[in-house]
Amino acid sequence: MNSAKIGILGLGTVGCGTINVLARNREEITRRAGREIKVVKASARDLKKARPVAIGGFDLVSDSYEIVRDPQIEVVVELIGGYEPARSLVLEAIAHGKHVVTANKALIAVHGNEIFSAAQKKGVTVAFEAAVAGGIPIIKTIREGFTGNRIEWVAGIVNGTSNFILTEMRDKGRDFADVLAEAQRLGYAEADPTFDVEGIDAAHKLTILAAIAFGIPLQFKQVYTEGITQITRTDVVYAEELGYRIKQLAIARRVNDKVELRVHPTLIPERRIIANVDGVMNAVLVKGDAVGPTLFYGAGAGAEPTASAIVADLVDVVRTLTTDPTNRVPHLAFQPDSIVNLPILPMEEVQTAYYLRLNAEDRPGVLADVTRILGDLGISIEAILQKEPREGEKVVPIIILTHRILEKNMNAAIQRIEALPSIQRHVVRIRLEHLNRDWK
Ligand code: HSE
Repeated sequence: MNSAKIGILGLGTVGCGTINVLARNREEITRRAGREIKVVKASARDLKKARPVAIGGFDLVSDSYEIVRDPQIEVVVELIGGYEPARSLVLEAIAHGKHVVTANKALIAVHGNEIFSAAQKKGVTVAFEAAVAGGIPIIKTIREGFTGNRIEWVAGIVNGTSNFILTEMRDKGRDFADVLAEAQRLGYAEADPTFDVEGIDAAHKLTILAAIAFGIPLQFKQVYTEGITQITRTDVVYAEELGYRIKQLAIARRVNDKVELRVHPTLIPERRIIANVDGVMNAVLVKGDAVGPTLFYGAGAGAEPTASAIVADLVDVVRTLTTDPTNRVPHLAFQPDSIVNLPILPMEEVQTAYYLRLNAEDRPGVLADVTRILGDLGISIEAILQKEPREGEKVVPIIILTHRILEKNMNAAIQRIEALPSIQRHVVRIRLEHLNRDWK
């Protein structure tokens, strides 16, 4: 049988990884796909750059449009990243009747509704396993493995760079900027690393996970997003003393007929397996009503882990090239006419537990004032820790863990606590989730 002809847009870390994996495992991949998957053309901005891949056996071009319009190419692999020109190229590939495989989470999260609708009309597939959690097959798992479940919540460490930074801060006391520079050197970070440290990359991935878990449209703008830039080693150490780890978590949860979508640093009990997912590794917890809580772990970035997901998508696409488009697995797990827009809960209406750190003057009545404010707003304290003042200092750190409460009550409490003359601004607040089966 003829080989399936592939064109790759972008020969960076992941593009080279994909070519290498396809070459190394050619025989086994062919046995699985039923046809050889052959890269015939690839595009790159700089044709002369040295790359960790054997160039040859395919044409290297500088104009990506040459690939998306090439009649011999059946599947286009988009590895350029970012919104444009990726969006225009993918739409052009679809218009030319090509299937698309992409690792581009930003593109799918922000322009996915438009892209899938174009693909649907044209009867082609757009596959995006590599867009979320790198090598972990989480899209396939939720979309195909859990179709019998009503999915209740998904919570994941889906940005390797921020997990790497938090891990190094905790284990080695390293400086934020220094660890970020290392993540950039290792090729984990986004082209613009603020996407990693401000939670945007995780929010892109959460948008995709929520859509396939709940059958809702992709709605990136609705995700509450907070990065890790305000996390200090002080809080990492206090959290540890209280039996918690701080992780950058992406959470999508059904609450009655509404959905929570949030990305923020989160204290997690250290006994949870996910609290021990360190370095650049990713992990995603999925709770389905039938299957119960499940956990998926693996490399969330890097050349070959991401290539593993891309090649799996390529094999899937090649296997279904001859099937009727209406019989294929739907892009977003639910049939396109069954996607329902559930309201997204504003952050003020979200309930979670909290870690608070205040700096208080060391004199009688201060703690009583603070606990009165919390009590008045219905906030119940789970644990409290007061440290001795450092030598020569009159201010003591107080750490409070609370039970679950509406975010708006906590906002009001923090405002009142910060107004107390005996408390220094600013009160540190980090959300806390127990991640137990029933989310209690
Ligand atoms: N910058 C991303 C991360 C790459 O650190 O997880 C993988 O999507």
